[in-house]
Amino acid sequence: MRAWRDATREESGLRLAVIGKPVAQSLSPKMQSAALRELGVAGSYEAFEVEPEELRDCLSHLADCGFRGVNVTIPYKSPVAALCELEGSEAIETGCVNTVRFGEKWVGSNTDVAGFLHPIRTWPPGEALLIGAGGAAEAAAYALLTSGWSVSLWNRTAERAEELARRFSRFGSIQALVTPAEASADLVVSAIPAPGEENVFPVRFETLSRSAAIYDLAYAEGGTRLTRWAIEAGRRVVDGREMLVEQGALALEWWTGLTAPRPVMRAAIGLPPQEI
Ligand SMILES: NC(=O)c1ccc[n+]([C@@H]2O[C@H](COP(=O)([O-])OP(=O)(O)OC[C@H]3O[C@@H](n4cnc5c(N)ncnc54)[C@H](OP(=O)(O)O)[C@@H]3O)[C@@H](O)[C@H]2O)c1
Repeated sequence: MRAWRDATREESGLRLAVIGKPVAQSLSPKMQSAALRELGVAGSYEAFEVEPEELRDCLSHLADCGFRGVNVTIPYKSPVAALCELEGSEAIETGCVNTVRFGEKWVGSNTDVAGFLHPIRTWPPGEALLIGAGGAAEAAAYALLTSGWSVSLWNRTAERAEELARRFSRFGSIQALVTPAEASADLVVSAIPAPGEENVFPVRFETLSRSAAIYDLAYAEGGTRLTRWAIEAGRRVVDGREMLVEQGALALEWWTGLTAPRPVMRAAIGLPPQEI
């Protein structure tokens, strides 16, 4: 992975990247590079780690170098939104963007909301327990509420959960929890990072209600600790890579106007080429 300052104007083709910190674990470069190859588009999709105080300089530099756009990941979705003109209700209402298109203006959109909903789009709405209150949790909360789910929200920093619940109460039934109880949840959504094998999930897996499906937004080839446990325990599971593919496909379509080759993108990150 090279530094964003090493990108130059001399490089050609369709240039794209994901920015974040940390970003080395992102599967987006693998997935989007496979998509560009399949489409026969000459170009590249890189990952750049960025320090918080460098965010604006990094975006200016990449725009100057001729990048078409960037994806934005942890923890910059909200700070980058503040630097962009927002397009679409998902970006405007969540105040988070995961996709930026450079041009005369920097335009930010949020494909996380549609990406999150895609794997559960046919499920009847019910009660969801959502863990986390960062950018990914905002997308999930907005997606769930606007599709009729009721949401209970828990976050390590309680004030963030309370603030999110207050802000999103106009979209539906959402409450912040003091402890992450999930007795009646039909769906448990984890929107916190899963670093390695460290267990940061605040509920003991074994206590999760048997009827609750498990959706882990964090992802890893081979599954996260949570999804591996859930599969073994016979739970209905949504792998975060499902969301990754759809948000990435929508971003690629927004940047290029081409139809994203979803089966190739899925296969590139270890998912079966067709959705199950
Ligand atoms: N599958 C996909 O397509 C997709 C899309 C977006 C994001 N994601 C994944 O979702 C995760 C969250 O991303 P984000 O953009 O929401 O990040 P973010 O804005 O930085 O938010 C991080 C969230 O995780 C919580 N957290 C961090 N470390 C924790 C720990 N040790 N224990 C408990 N909670 C902890 C934070 O709680 P505090 O408020 O207390 O700090 C916050 O709620 C990342 O793993 C990201 O890769 C996946």
